[in-house]
Amino acid sequence: MKNIVIFASGFGSNFQAMIDAIKHGKLHATIVGLICDRSGAYAIERARINGIPVALFERSASPSKVEMDKAILNQCQGWQADWLVLAGYMRLLSPMLIQAYPRHIVNIHPSLLPKYRGLDAVGQALNQKDSIYGLTIHYVDEGMDTGEIIVQVPFETDQLDRDHIEKRLHQLEHQTYPAVINKLIVEESV
Ligand code: GAR
Repeated sequence: MKNIVIFASGFGSNFQAMIDAIKHGKLHATIVGLICDRSGAYAIERARINGIPVALFERSASPSKVEMDKAILNQCQGWQADWLVLAGYMRLLSPMLIQAYPRHIVNIHPSLLPKYRGLDAVGQALNQKDSIYGLTIHYVDEGMDTGEIIVQVPFETDQLDRDHIEKRLHQLEHQTYPAVINKLIVEESV
């Protein structure tokens, strides 16, 4: 069984989708810990409810980003992580951390990359009055949402309304992300 560590900064619905997929036998992995950078994040409560260890790394508590990412790496290694799964983690990882897990760090982003990298991808797409939205699951490299694409799921809508689009996106994310992580893990084991 492979060990995964989830990185989340906020609500953690994708984290919950991983927990649920494991419970339903759809993701063959163990979540050995949650890395979180915000003490108020609901993801922490989800971890507590499910007995998953949490390591909180708040920016203000560390002298530098590199020092913080060294501590995060140390924690992931302590948990014997095989895969790092970013699920709404709103910070870039240091090269040192990325290099410690080559092709074993994955992120989900709510746009069809390379369009709309960075913050508020849905808002960026809405500003362009796009009719095609979607998500991208990709390996993490040192750029901002620039890593090799694994899967993209597009959908079309003429309802240019943030709530509608975000609801649809989340549904697709929750179906797709655990399945993709499971596929990566299974492919690695054969
Ligand atoms: C998700 O929609 C994810 O695609 C996005 O944050 C949301 C987290 O939701 N990620 C990014 O924007 C990364 N740049 P969640 O906390 O409910 O899983």
